[in-house]
Parts: sequence; structure tokens; C-alpha cells
Amino acid sequence: MDFHPPDELRGASVILRRYRLTDAAAVKDAIAVSLESLKPWMPWAQSAPTDVSVMSFLEPSVRLWGGDAPANYAITLADCGRYVGGCGLMPRIGPGALEVGYWVHAAYHRRGVATESARLLTNAALVLPGVQRVEIHCDERNIPSASVARTLGFRLDRVVQDVLDAPYKTGRSMIWITEQPV
Ligand SMILES: CC(C)(COP(=O)(O)OP(=O)(O)OC[C@H]1O[C@@H](n2cnc3c(N)ncnc32)[C@H](O)[C@@H]1OP(=O)(O)O)[C@@H](O)C(=O)NCCC(=O)NCCS
Repeated sequence: MDFHPPDELRGASVILRRYRLTDAAAVKDAIAVSLESLKPWMPWAQSAPTDVSVMSFLEPSVRLWGGDAPANYAITLADCGRYVGGCGLMPRIGPGALEVGYWVHAAYHRRGVATESARLLTNAALVLPGVQRVEIHCDERNIPSASVARTLGFRLDRVVQDVLDAPYKTGRSMIWITEQPV
């Protein structure tokens, strides 16, 4: 998969943009504050973030952008620029397809941030050359994440066995798919 998404995607409430090394403090703080909501589902959030763990994510995110690497975006609020989470497009599900992933700062949950971010990513992905399909993968028990996919009109294609790499996961992942803009 060789894809080249825009550096910035603008929505009504959020702006997704490429990470900068100067985001380190905001990323560390957002993960630290959100740890209890991330831990159940995210393998990378099993312990408190450190300067080293944040940089091991941030440095490649700044340097690598699409091609055969993920495009990781900072989610920022459109009105004030505050960092409120991360999302991205990942070329890890085979040819012609990109996977969308997301997490949101716990203080900003249930305001539509993930839904708007996933919408921006999905629609940007589907206009890229060679991309026919976008998928959201989430554990069967992750109701908020599944709600994002369902709300956007993705269809549940199948449920597959997956790695048990975070404590609340069942080991069964829902594969949500769209071939149309959402
Ligand atoms: C999943 C997550 C990104 C949702 O972020 P969010 O910005 O709060 O989501 P939204 O506000 O866009 O809401 C999306 C839907 O989830 C629902 N929802 C959000 N939090 C919920 C909760 N705790 N319980 C039940 N439903 C919830 C909302 O009601 C909404 O559904 P609706 O449109 O049918 O009303 C956020 O909970 C999170 O960061 N979780 C931890 C990381 C994670 O699980 N990432 C996804 C891995 S696959």
C-alpha cells in the first residue's frame, strides 16, 4: 500500500494535523489523564507514559507519513488548537484498504470528537488513488468504538479472532467496513 494523505484535515469542531515534536508534553499529559479509559483497550497504554515512551511514538510519527507507514494525526480542537487525542490511517489490512484508528482525551469524551475524526479520515482515505475500502477494527466489547463505526454508517462485515493484548478485550474483533464516503 502506497498512500499519501493530506497533512491536515479540517472539520467543524476538530482539525487533524501531522504531529510535531513540540507536541510531546501535550501527548504525555493527555495519555496520563486518560490512562484508565485507554488501559482496557490499548496495548500501548498499560503503564503511565514517560518521556521515552511518548518520543518512541512521536518521533516516527513526525518522520514517516504514509507510503507503507501509518499516517498518525494529532486531534486538535478547531476553536483553540488544544490537543485532545490521536487518530490515524494504517496500511496494515492489505491492498486497496486503510484502517482508521482513534483515541480521545478522557475529558473530551462523548462530544463527537472520535466520530468527526473518523469521518474526516475515512473520506480523505476514499479519495486517495488505489483506496477502495476503509475499515475500523474494534473489540466486540468496546461499545463506544463500535458506536463510532455504526454512527458513521460502516457495516459490520465479520467478527474475527484477534490477539488478546489489552485487559478488557474478548479476543474477538469486529471488522466494520465502508466503501462509500460517510
Ligand atoms: C472510543 C472513543 C475513541 C470514543 O471517543 P468519543 O470522542 O467519546 O466518541 P464520540 O463522542 O464520537 O461518540 C461515539 C459514540 O460512542 C458513544 N459513546 C461514547 N462513550 C461511550 C460510553 N462510555 N459508553 C457508551 N457509549 C459511548 C456515543 O454515545 C456515540 O454514540 P452515538 O453516536 O450512537 O450516540 C473513546 O471512548 C476512547 O478514547 N476510548 C479508549 C480508546 C479506544 O477504545 N479506542 C478505540 C480502539 S478500537
